[in-house]
Amino acid sequence: MSWSPDRTQVNSWNEWDPLRHVIVGRATDCHIPRPEPAVNAKVPEDSDMRGRWGKRPQETIDEGNELLDNFAEKLRRRGIRVDRPEPIDFSQPVLTPDFETGSQFGCMPPRDLLLTVGNQIVEATMSYRCRWFEYLCYRPLLQRYWEEDPEFRHEAAPKPRLSDRSYHSEYLAHHIDVDTRLEWTRNRFFVTTEHEPLFDAADVLRMGRDLVVQHGFTTNLKGIEWLRRHFPDHRVHAVNFPGDPYPTHIDATFTPIRPGLILNNPERRLPDEQRPLFEKNGWEIVEAARPAHNAPPPLCYSSVWLSMNVLVLDPKTVCVEKSEVFQAEQLDRLGMEVIEIDLRGAYAFGGGLHCSTADVYREGDCDDYFPGLKDPSAG
Ligand code: ALA
Repeated sequence: MSWSPDRTQVNSWNEWDPLRHVIVGRATDCHIPRPEPAVNAKVPEDSDMRGRWGKRPQETIDEGNELLDNFAEKLRRRGIRVDRPEPIDFSQPVLTPDFETGSQFGCMPPRDLLLTVGNQIVEATMSYRCRWFEYLCYRPLLQRYWEEDPEFRHEAAPKPRLSDRSYHSEYLAHHIDVDTRLEWTRNRFFVTTEHEPLFDAADVLRMGRDLVVQHGFTTNLKGIEWLRRHFPDHRVHAVNFPGDPYPTHIDATFTPIRPGLILNNPERRLPDEQRPLFEKNGWEIVEAARPAHNAPPPLCYSSVWLSMNVLVLDPKTVCVEKSEVFQAEQLDRLGMEVIEIDLRGAYAFGGGLHCSTADVYREGDCDDYFPGLKDPSAG
């Protein structure tokens, strides 16, 4: 399929083919959600976010939006079409027959919600109550794509109930020390139960015929099974990163750069038994460089490892956050042209360069990057 800027087409099979059309999120009206099971489990004990909720300070929202606008503009100047979501009023509560929570979250990280695979964009179930209605911010865009591209499949995974049965009550404890957390994640005891399928799109890496999915706080095994049944022509692999006490979203942990090269967070090593999938199929797993910072910025959910949350524009070009000098140096050494993007002031709204974007169109087809595996359509 060939790209034309005059025509909307949804097509993206992986994380590295040349990017032509992307969604960049917004920080507008972003709220720190009220305590709820999945959010509590993710906020570290020593975080400045503990016990705080409500709308984020307006000056930080303004700064975040300015950085996101600049990022969008830089992509546009490279010929990439950029669309933006329409924020809703995030101060509104979420009320369903199963739960109520006082406010919503925001629409800065489209990657968490939107999973683009070929000509489909799937709205993920999500697993935070405060993110239940986030899809509404993207519906104007998705409806437009649906009108303009007759091949586009707009899909939504079944909305979960998110009742108390979807969360392990042990994670509601006021204080859980890091050693306990690490033991729980080593034992694959996460905050979400297996009561219903749950997944966030940011737990999925798209690698042609293969989808690599982190099983953790925001994606359970039933969510992975749902993906497997929904994409019968793909091979779907569950992976774990036991060194992460808060395993939420794969994109600060395991980052493919181009065919054959993937960065792995050295504190969240892919376990030995899961490595042959990559190593026997010609993939080199390289330890990512250390982050440039010792702590995340204020009121931020994510870890310092957003250093790895890079956006690949094509197999030779990658956007790296401007202050992440060690990550930039490493990618340069690995033969990539590095484009610096100033985005650290927007991290608090939900992540870095990869989180704050969602693919609409990348060139290329559904290729097989794991040639040693059985053809998924062979049954
Ligand atoms: N949850 C990921 C991290 O903070 C993004 O490392």
